[in-house]
Amino acid sequence: MSVTAIIGAQWGDEGKGKIVDYYCNHFPQDMVIRSQGGPNAGHTIYLDNDISKKVTLRQIPSGIFAKKKLSIIGAGTVINPVTLVEEMNKLQGLGVDFNKNTLLISHRAHLIFPWHLQEDKKDNKIGTTGNGIGPCYASKAKRIGITIGEFFNNTNIIKDFDDINLASDNTASYVDALKILKDQYSQLIVDTHPIVTKYLKENKNITLEGAQGLMLDLDFGTYPYVTSSSTTTAGLLNGAGIPPKYLTKTIGVFKAYTTRVGAGPFPSEDLTSYGENLQTLGHEFGSVTGRKRRTGHLDLVQLKYASEICGFDELAIVKWDIIEKFDYMKIAYDYTSTNADQTPDQAIYQRFEDPKNNSSSILKYIEEKLSGPKITMLSYGPKRDDIKLL
Ligand code: IMP
Ligand code: MG
Repeated sequence: MSVTAIIGAQWGDEGKGKIVDYYCNHFPQDMVIRSQGGPNAGHTIYLDNDISKKVTLRQIPSGIFAKKKLSIIGAGTVINPVTLVEEMNKLQGLGVDFNKNTLLISHRAHLIFPWHLQEDKKDNKIGTTGNGIGPCYASKAKRIGITIGEFFNNTNIIKDFDDINLASDNTASYVDALKILKDQYSQLIVDTHPIVTKYLKENKNITLEGAQGLMLDLDFGTYPYVTSSSTTTAGLLNGAGIPPKYLTKTIGVFKAYTTRVGAGPFPSEDLTSYGENLQTLGHEFGSVTGRKRRTGHLDLVQLKYASEICGFDELAIVKWDIIEKFDYMKIAYDYTSTNADQTPDQAIYQRFEDPKNNSSSILKYIEEKLSGPKITMLSYGPKRDDIKLL
């Protein structure tokens, strides 16, 4: 029996999809749960180890491609029916069959409505992904939100909804998507609690797939430049409805450098040509928004903080192939002042020459500075199997 949480240790886009996919294919997993967030996420996998077969998952767990595993969209998530139906259609084209043994959606997950998207786009100082995530979670916290279960079970709400004149361009496809979900997939929208409990009782192996990253956590991230869900280990357990006592392992995923999309503090940001090279060589464009990602150096003050909040047992380092293309890499190990998580202080760096030929001493340095979690996986390329177990 195991419950493994796989979490982004930076500001998102660490390659969690690939690590989850690899983990599920190499260690026997029975269930993969997405606990929080919504279509603001974009988890990329290259199928069949072929870089022309790129799939970006936004709401469905990356475990969907691992055979005989049940994927769950958990209670802590928010769902846009349009993107969900689009995603399901795309995956069906790739041979995924949706039934009660492959995908379940918690009836407690909240629906993102067109007005949430409109509100999100209105005044976007934070640089959100514009997917209505914050406004939807705000409706939930205000207790005026509508869960997907309630929506489909209560015909009055559906009737009311039909009467509402939605001044939005995508209204037609929104209503169409709801109808498709209701007509074709309503058997997948259930109370997932008894099923998760059954798996725990039967000592099965469960993976919790985090979305975004610890520094975007609503409570512990760089507030207010954060997302609106809990991206911590505790948040993942909560969004899945799994008691903390069942957790067996937490894996933090981080890049050999740092990126962030949207506004907010980024102490190790590099605005020189080095940062630009990270951006182009690392293909650092948002997988959902297409936006250029801000780039900078690996920041161990930030990573240690993430590790303390999330309790990482193990770490997966990704994009090692990108940092190998550089003559040197810089790693931040301290800041000029102590306001670690909020103020954009100057980072103090250790410089390492020729990362390609010095990987073991660099990885050792990272582990020493973090004093706890061990680096157990290293991803050295975009393909599905470009991962070394250490
Ligand atoms: P929201 O989650 O769309 O509200 O965006 C809030 C902040 O989180 C913005 O800075 C986004 O760029 C960032 N963000 C949200 N989701 C992701 C993600 O999956 N990867 C990276 N950044 C994200
Ligand atoms: Mg992403």
